[in-house]
Amino acid sequence: MSTPLPGALRLAFSTAAHQPAIKRLFDPAIKNSIDPDGQVAGREGETFSRHVVQGHAAVLEDGQGNTHTLTMAWHLAASGDTQPRPRHIEIGTALTCLPGFHSASVVTSALALAEWWRPTLPRGLIAAEVGNDNIPSVKLFRNTLGWRPLKDPKAIREINGLSYANVVDYSHTDDSKTWYVCARAARVKAAATLLAFMDRGNLIHKDGRSIPLDLSALASIGLTRPHLEALARGITTKKDLRSLPLA
Ligand SMILES: CC(C)(COP(=O)(O)OP(=O)(O)OC[C@H]1O[C@@H](n2cnc3c(N)ncnc32)[C@H](O)[C@@H]1OP(=O)(O)O)[C@@H](O)C(=O)NCCC(=O)NCCS
Repeated sequence: MSTPLPGALRLAFSTAAHQPAIKRLFDPAIKNSIDPDGQVAGREGETFSRHVVQGHAAVLEDGQGNTHTLTMAWHLAASGDTQPRPRHIEIGTALTCLPGFHSASVVTSALALAEWWRPTLPRGLIAAEVGNDNIPSVKLFRNTLGWRPLKDPKAIREINGLSYANVVDYSHTDDSKTWYVCARAARVKAAATLLAFMDRGNLIHKDGRSIPLDLSALASIGLTRPHLEALARGITTKKDLRSLPLA
């Protein structure tokens, strides 16, 4: 999408106020431009709104509240489930208007850690389903984020069934896909990725353009810099992280 580069961006976890800006990415003119192959499926309206209101979208937004990069965390439950914690969390709906800035790695790392850190972490997996022909997305989840392919056929069947229950408007034609799982090593990598972006303070394109980046939203949900540093060193139990002295 040929919009002017934003002057600065900040990470935010969604609230009800983000609904219009996030929905705007799904206007056909914008969606078809940033996702021409139709890799990202729409979700049924109530499900979509509820997830945004409950903070299960992470965005990079500019000073006017426009969303430039989005990732969502779909809480998957079977009908009749009464547990407050979902069965699995599907990370997906990754979209960016800023090609070449690796902005999705920031937003997706932040959201995956946030979903694990919150009390509503899944009883099963945090995972993303990626089309095998979707090169930028395979690069994102497998190479940059270090998520590992799910091999267990029973787990694949279960998560597929839950995931597709509320999908609408899915137009992509090549249906060969792989589920990638965010396990312990990927959480360590996510923390290291976020610290690297914090230290740099910018998103940087290989052509030299840069955009100042504010990641203070992580501290506002309790993932402070000392927590991220400990995670990046391999301390990955919540109990150990919560007992850290937070200087
Ligand atoms: C998937 C997506 C969110 C990734 O965002 P991002 O990581 O910020 O994207 P970038 O443009 O910075 O590209 C990341 C990498 O993919 C490469 N890439 C981007 N578009 C590419 C293309 N069409 N073909 C090959 N490589 C491509 C970039 O060169 C970069 O490679 P590098 O890591 O070796 O430098 C973004 O490409 C997008 O919005 N795609 C459309 C929707 C989509 O497919 N969503 C994912 C559904 S699972």
